[in-house]
Amino acid sequence: MSSSIEIKNNLKTGWESPSNIALVKYWGKHGRQLPNNASISFTLSQAATRTFVSLEKKTNPEEAIEVVFSFDGKPNNSFAAKIVKFLTSIADEYFPYLKDYKLNIESSNSFPHSSGIASSASSMSALACCLCDLENQIIGKTNDDKTFFKKASIISRLGSGSAARSVFAQAAVWGKHTDLSESSDEYAIGVDTSLHPVFKTMQNDILIISADEKSVSSTAGHALMEGNPYAPVRYEQANHSLSKLLIALKEGDLETFGKITEDEALTLHALMMCSDPSYILMEEGSLAVIKKIKKFREKYNIPVYFTLDAGPNIHVLYPEKYDKEVSQFIIAELKPYCHQGRIIRDKVGNGPSKIS
Ligand code: PMV
Repeated sequence: MSSSIEIKNNLKTGWESPSNIALVKYWGKHGRQLPNNASISFTLSQAATRTFVSLEKKTNPEEAIEVVFSFDGKPNNSFAAKIVKFLTSIADEYFPYLKDYKLNIESSNSFPHSSGIASSASSMSALACCLCDLENQIIGKTNDDKTFFKKASIISRLGSGSAARSVFAQAAVWGKHTDLSESSDEYAIGVDTSLHPVFKTMQNDILIISADEKSVSSTAGHALMEGNPYAPVRYEQANHSLSKLLIALKEGDLETFGKITEDEALTLHALMMCSDPSYILMEEGSLAVIKKIKKFREKYNIPVYFTLDAGPNIHVLYPEKYDKEVSQFIIAELKPYCHQGRIIRDKVGNGPSKIS
């Protein structure tokens, strides 16, 4: 047995955790999944993963970590192998109990399968919350939310960097930044209390321009920053962007928010375009949609902005009070560019929740 704690049986838990969309992007890392610059994101609500983990006592606890994994009700051995690798890398340091049990993990996404939406942030954060919860059950610990989600953020980060930000409501910053004394490279911190009300209900419609697999994995993308001649300037720019954005988010300054958010998205794509090898991650439809959003904003003076992840899909951000006008515009002018007309209507959300 890996600890002196009594091995309990029939332990289980379930958590739902959302994806997030970065406003200042994390792109470039070092060490054990540590960011080269601080980033900030909105936590989403609709794009989420539900994960259930149950533990079964092992007959021989000294053996390797054992996982049975199913996605959408179907066994998935290649995911199971990835999860075993991840759990093996964190067990000794963070969860010695993992060696005492066989883990049965069932996971599903609330958003359509193969929609081109990255699910690593929601899936890793849902798994991290389950692991922290089971640890508490095993050692009979009830820790406060702050301690619980700090550890959940560290574990999420080790699984997928950007996932560190998903465990907090509304908005989170990950990475050490001089303007936030509590910030850290090892975990994210929630910054919801520093948000103007207009951002607490911000809409985020995700236009699925292409549902294809990403042409470059984020692991490879981060690695390409190492040889990128603009990298040092980029990290400096990200730190300035975050300083300015924190003020705009507090003051409800939509114009500055939009300017920084769009600059950041275009910078991420520009960095990929000038990497070696280079990647163009937008599609023709992405560009057409970006141009239309800019025109609409100028013509009607409505604060609607775009951002993108490392792919072609467009996130359309706007205050809730413009829902009617912007929805009409999206349906009439942007939907034709979406793969099978697919749009996920999302908004700023409240972070992970335990499924009872
Ligand atoms: O968490 P990763 O390693 O998949 O990196 C994702 C990075 C971006 O999504 C492109 C930006 C971000 O900060 O979320």
